[in-house]
Amino acid sequence: MAARRNKPLFKLSDITGDQQEASGGALGAGPATDNPRDTEWPPRRSAAVTNTPFANFGKIVDPSGALNFSGKAVVHSSGVDFSNGPSFAINMDQLQLGEELGNGAYGTVKRVLHKPTNVAMAMKEIRLELDDTKLNAIIMELDILHRAVHPSIVDFYGAFFIESCVYYCMEYMDAGSLDKLYGVGVPEPVLGRIISCMVKGLKFLKDELQIIHRDVKPTNVLLNKRGDVKLCDFGVSGQLDKSLAKTNIGCQSYMAPERIKGESQNALSTYTVSSDVWSVGLATLEIAIGKYPYPPETYSNVFAQLTAIIHGDPPELPDTYSETARDWVSRCLVKRPEDRATYAQLLSHPFLHEDARRNVDMRGWVARALQWKDEQKQQRRLRQQESEPLHPTDTLRPS
Ligand SMILES: Nc1ncnc2c1ncn2[C@@H]1O[C@H](COP(=O)(O)OP(=O)(O)O)[C@@H](O)[C@H]1O
Ligand SMILES: [Mg+2]
Repeated sequence: MAARRNKPLFKLSDITGDQQEASGGALGAGPATDNPRDTEWPPRRSAAVTNTPFANFGKIVDPSGALNFSGKAVVHSSGVDFSNGPSFAINMDQLQLGEELGNGAYGTVKRVLHKPTNVAMAMKEIRLELDDTKLNAIIMELDILHRAVHPSIVDFYGAFFIESCVYYCMEYMDAGSLDKLYGVGVPEPVLGRIISCMVKGLKFLKDELQIIHRDVKPTNVLLNKRGDVKLCDFGVSGQLDKSLAKTNIGCQSYMAPERIKGESQNALSTYTVSSDVWSVGLATLEIAIGKYPYPPETYSNVFAQLTAIIHGDPPELPDTYSETARDWVSRCLVKRPEDRATYAQLLSHPFLHEDARRNVDMRGWVARALQWKDEQKQQRRLRQQESEPLHPTDTLRPS
């Protein structure tokens, strides 16, 4: 399933004929940040800066090569210092690079070992495009990240900036993301525990930090072998520049109907916290049934798929699930945002009440899921070997 997570080169303007570019999409994702243009431009630039493409962004990149966000934070090659106190002094020299964990639209995620502390981390590389909005979005994400301390949110360990990339280090979740695990099958109690963690994390982000996630989907739900479930990529790193008019739409949209409609008309303000609730519902359905609920096979093109989200009946959990579970999902997948459940209502719904009273062996489920994932990998490798044509010299080899 994960293999199908390709992102076709497709723009909403192809569908709507809307050629206008939306702007400030990422900026709208959370609390307002200061405009880096207000930063005082240092009088002299070092060669290191003037020779890079960042020369034009002198208001942000200071002579030492640090990213300086007016009053918020400075990200440099040896860490990040937040103006409200904390500094995170992690830098590339302290890291031993490990395997690649995945690849998103903005760069790769690698496992790394922080040598001074022997802590395994996940390092996300974000190749910066030279655009104020994106730089602003990055710092906003970092600012949110270091304040978001909650059992259902991945820990933030630090960030640094080298050349044209920002690297940020977060808790390494050693079972990976949910999209690569749910294929093993997700029994109802496990489903309940996963969504209860997701909703608690989202409610924390909203109540304590006044932010909405905007990119709720199974690849942004991470698990570890202890059975913990945590969210990542809220704020913007996972969805910089995701304003629809500009962005390639994947064949799997988790966006609420009003968001698809609104953004196709450049009305970015249509996004509210209840749009995330729709995405939670869709992600829950996907986790339960083992595939994206609007399968690309069923729709001849992305337009048909988005039309189905806007105009069709919302998808439902199959009746192999309990009435309570089905009702919970249906409370998220309400097309009118005003009628969708709030996080508080979702948490006090009988389905999550049941979860709170239950012992769920998440550790056992994760172990089974990882074993299944390994077997799938092996089978894929075997199939690949079988389908590879014999090397020409093989046929000449005497038997
Ligand atoms: N902290 C982490 N620990 C383990 N794996 C991670 C972590 N963060 C991301 N990943 C993996 O890296 C992949 C790529 O992440 P990302 O660049 O955010 O793209 P996307 O979320 O769209 O897949 C994810 O799908 C996930 O499997
Ligand atoms: Mg992600």
